[in-house]
Amino acid sequence: MQDLRDFIKGIEELGELKTVHHAHWDLEIGAITEISASEPNPPALLFDEIKDYPSGFRLLSNMFQTQSRTALALGLPPDLKGVALVSSVREMLKSIQPTPPALQKRGAIQENVFFDKEASVLRFPVPKLHRQDGGRYLGTADAVITSDPELSWVNLGTARVQVIEERKVALYVSPGKQTRLIAQKYWDQGKACPVAVVCGIEPVLFAVSGLGLPWGESEYDFAGHIQKAPVQVVKGQVTGLPIPATAEIVIEGEIPPPEVESVMEGPFGEWTGYYASGTRPSPVIRVQAVYHRNDPILTALPDFKTYPLSSYLFLVFCAAGVWNEIEKVGITDVTGVWLAEWGMRFFIVIAVKQRYGGHARQAAHVALGAREGGYLGRFVVLVDDDIDPANLPDVLWAMSTRCDPQTSIEIVTQCWSSPIDPRIPPAQRKAGDFTNSRAIIDACRPFAWRNHFPKVHSIDSDFRDQIMQKWKHIFNQR
Ligand SMILES: Cc1cc2nc3c(=O)[nH]c(=O)nc-3n(C[C@H](O)[C@H](O)[C@H](O)COP(=O)(O)O)c2cc1C
Repeated sequence: MQDLRDFIKGIEELGELKTVHHAHWDLEIGAITEISASEPNPPALLFDEIKDYPSGFRLLSNMFQTQSRTALALGLPPDLKGVALVSSVREMLKSIQPTPPALQKRGAIQENVFFDKEASVLRFPVPKLHRQDGGRYLGTADAVITSDPELSWVNLGTARVQVIEERKVALYVSPGKQTRLIAQKYWDQGKACPVAVVCGIEPVLFAVSGLGLPWGESEYDFAGHIQKAPVQVVKGQVTGLPIPATAEIVIEGEIPPPEVESVMEGPFGEWTGYYASGTRPSPVIRVQAVYHRNDPILTALPDFKTYPLSSYLFLVFCAAGVWNEIEKVGITDVTGVWLAEWGMRFFIVIAVKQRYGGHARQAAHVALGAREGGYLGRFVVLVDDDIDPANLPDVLWAMSTRCDPQTSIEIVTQCWSSPIDPRIPPAQRKAGDFTNSRAIIDACRPFAWRNHFPKVHSIDSDFRDQIMQKWKHIFNQR
């Protein structure tokens, strides 16, 4: 099992870690993270000696900003990139052998435990990330743990957590997410929902917390399968929920029914580059206990407008999930799936080796109808198998040259979107209607006359290698 500290050690060995001293939690950490992320090959940033906090109370950001660190986090060779990286993740997601967590008597997370009045979330250097944010955000790279009261399976979902008071935080969970559906079951019985939030989390568990797994399947079992060893957990003293034994920071508490207590959450600079969901009444967590390791490390994944990608980890899992969803229903010959870094969920690219008329369109419709590919999207672009879906210039070339807008673009309406979609019109938003439309852009050669489509002219790879070798003194790349 690789905990966060093992992962940081690995990043250091890759030469991709930078330590930053004396930054302020109020905007400086956010700004340094954003500027660094927009540079080529951004390092992971480990902030220490943060203003107002003791040395050793650290914050880690930009940890999944490169494909090499993402591969490392998953125990894969760090040179895997693009569709090859997605393919490896896809294999991990197939033939799942659920591996339940192993309950331990003690874990590093219990090194420091505080209850009731002592359980302040401001023990940690919680950052205010963007100037117009409504406050400090404890959870941006977290996992919210709840348990279904009827079936008693344990769910983990990533959701943002804003500090309201030292012992009260607000939770933003989109409609339809399992965390919300589980909490609703407690609320329907007039009860508060027991909850734990992990804020410094091991990489594999974080990866699966951001995934839409089928109802009833625990992310703990899934993470155990991926890392080929059960996640070690200890029992939360207040809620009885299993909490990761080597996590850095955990808070425990309860979410009362919204009619009993709600607060205004937000605004928060979202991954779309906008403040779309604004402020609205949201559920609160009344904090009853705080746990942390010695010298704890809070993880943060702020979103940026300048470079919307905050995590390749999420990108490759989402792409692999979409690919598997298509394959599961019997559609063959998908050769790659990717999410454009500048559009993420809003811009999914699917490459298909077309075998029959309608084949590529079928793949797009399945993606839109499934859980992972169907949520909060905008464009699904279909390309032939000679296009690398992870190479955006190549994708734009295919769209520009193989599309006939009148016949190649298909619109699907009333799809599952979210309050964070910036394009939901004000009146629709006010009415609580968070659906949107999608465009399937078919940038494949039309199947019926694909063999008559003009030939591509491009230097063949053997000749390219020969020329590169002979004339290497005039080329930058080797
Ligand atoms: C970095 C990151 C931040 C996220 N923030 C939120 C959020 O604030 N609210 C939300 O509903 N989903 C958020 N998501 C998406 C959910 O984590 C994802 O849809 C997950 O499947 C939800 O799990 P659940 O259905 O078990 O609740 C985020 C995902 C990632 C990777």
